Amino acid sequence: MIREILKMGDPRLLEKSRPVEAFGTPDLRALIGDMQDTMRAASGAGLAAPQIGVGLRVVIFGFESNPRYPQVEAVPFTILVNPVLTPLSDELEEDWEGCLSVPGLRGAVPRWTRLSYRGFDAEGGLIEREAAGFHARVVQHECDHLDGILYPMRIRDLTKFGYTEILFPDAGIPED
Ligand code: NI
Repeated sequence: MIREILKMGDPRLLEKSRPVEAFGTPDLRALIGDMQDTMRAASGAGLAAPQIGVGLRVVIFGFESNPRYPQVEAVPFTILVNPVLTPLSDELEEDWEGCLSVPGLRGAVPRWTRLSYRGFDAEGGLIEREAAGFHARVVQHECDHLDGILYPMRIRDLTKFGYTEILFPDAGIPED
C-alpha cells in the first residue's frame, strides 16, 4: 500500500527510531511492503520507515536507474533493519542529495566516501557489505532518518542548497 510521505517540519521526522525486536512477523513484512510501494510510486532512491510515520529502524534503498538521479550508478535493492554503519576512511565528499521528505530541493552534503554496513533483512538474515560512491551516500542518508536527521541539517555551505529545477535546469529531473 502506498503511504503518505511526511515532509520536513513534521516533528515525527526528528525523532530517534527504535530497533526492531522481532523478525519475520506479518507486521514487519507489511511495513517493508508499504515502504517498497511508496518508494517506487515516488521514484525514490531510498526510504526510511520514519518517513511514513513509523518509528522503527528500517530502511530500504536501491535501483537500476533512477529519474531523480540520472547521473548515478545502480545500487542493489536492499532492505536493512537495525543498520550499523562503520566508515572505512576519514575522507568526506560533498555531492548533491534530495529527499522525498524535502520535495523540490537539492543540497550538497558531505558524506563518508567508503563504509561498511551491517543489518538484517525482514527475516533476520544478516547483511554485511562495503559500499562506496552513491551507494555509500544513500545508505548514510537513509540511516540518518533513523536518528531524526534530515540532509539540510548536514549542509555546510548553504549556498549549495536550492530548488532542483533552478540548480539543474537541463537535467530533466522530474518534480517530486
Ligand atoms: Ni530522505
